[in-house]
Amino acid sequence: MTLPTPSNPGPFGHAQRKNFLFPEGFTQFNHGSFGTFPKVVEENMLGWHRKAEQDPDRWMRRGLKPALEMIRGRLGEYMNCDKDELVMVTNTTVGVNTVLRSMKFVPGDYILQLTTSYVSVDRTINYIADTNKGVGIINVPINFPMKDHEIVFRVEQAVQEHMAKKDGTRIRLAMVDWISSVPAIVHPVKALVDMLRSYGILVFVDGAHAIGQVPVDLTWLNADFFISNCHKWLYSVRGSAVLYVPKRHQHLIHPLAITGDYNNGFENEFAWNGTQDYSTLLSVEAALDFRKQYGEEAIIHYTHTLAVEGGKKIAEILGTNVMTPDDDHQVANMVNIRLPINNLEHPKIETPQYLIELMQDKYNAFAPCFKHNGAFWCRVSAQIYLEMSDFVRLAHVLKEIIDDLNAEEKA
Ligand SMILES: Cc1ncc(COP(=O)(O)O)c(C=O)c1O
Repeated sequence: MTLPTPSNPGPFGHAQRKNFLFPEGFTQFNHGSFGTFPKVVEENMLGWHRKAEQDPDRWMRRGLKPALEMIRGRLGEYMNCDKDELVMVTNTTVGVNTVLRSMKFVPGDYILQLTTSYVSVDRTINYIADTNKGVGIINVPINFPMKDHEIVFRVEQAVQEHMAKKDGTRIRLAMVDWISSVPAIVHPVKALVDMLRSYGILVFVDGAHAIGQVPVDLTWLNADFFISNCHKWLYSVRGSAVLYVPKRHQHLIHPLAITGDYNNGFENEFAWNGTQDYSTLLSVEAALDFRKQYGEEAIIHYTHTLAVEGGKKIAEILGTNVMTPDDDHQVANMVNIRLPINNLEHPKIETPQYLIELMQDKYNAFAPCFKHNGAFWCRVSAQIYLEMSDFVRLAHVLKEIIDDLNAEEKA
């Protein structure tokens, strides 16, 4: 079977636009931040929503829990784990807070993270340290380009340096990304999990971007905790994520909202968060069906290849480089391309707002730009509804924007 590629997209590329809700003239280059979903998934979500409204009592008291169990079953099959180790939450931020705020940290406990942690994850870790006396944070500096083995080496070095202090403290938990946000990089997650666990450290994998971008096998990964959004790359409706807690840790973890299901079993505690609309969580069913229709391998192959080739194309047009030119495996569906700005301190790039408004209002196309390791970068997301011609257009948009900024500097 030949898989779709950017030069032979088959059912992907612009042929997919009709399956999504984009208006004419808008191109989505930032699937990574908030995701988006096909029309059939939206219809499925509305179907669950209407089912609840037709007989709210029957639904809330009898329908909801079996429906959530069905979704956990489908996700368990998809990620190779027991469905009873999975619970649904609305997003990764909630999942991270759920685990970190459930755990009882004691004085002398440290939480380790990499400096590429997502902002709300980093802030949550800081909140834990601020509100639990004697809890510290270890930030491991990570700047790209950096090879996989070097990342593992740096993290292990930080662990060993901490242990060498022999001050009676311990690294209790490490937070590691599977795919970081900015810069978007696939981390050597399995090597990090194995290394950190070998030191007796609990490992929480932030897989916000993982499911749908890379194959996820939770039995293989063997992490202590794992969270992934479904609403980013899996194509479910916004407000759907899955939290993995293996049985050995379930007694430690409770949802952020304690309800009448407190102490009524791990799955039950998470199946009822009080009265709300649960249809976004249930839309995962249709997202998985949509993916099955085209084939998991075909989707992942197309989007990854488009990210790698499209990123190199943009860099060629700009006369720059992608962040990890020799390590295409560090790219999943999001690629970082260097922007040739002359002055990194240009006032218009001090905050993201100027470029957000310019790209959205003038070009009807937006991709986040950010500073990292002494350079200015743009993160571009590949998706099944994009083709190489979109990347070429974006390259010219970026070139025009940067040329204008550079010209202003000279004037
Ligand atoms: C690595 C990472 N972690 C956590 C999050 C938070 O996800 P959410 O806003 O869906 O809670 C994001 C969002 O982009 C992310 O990129």
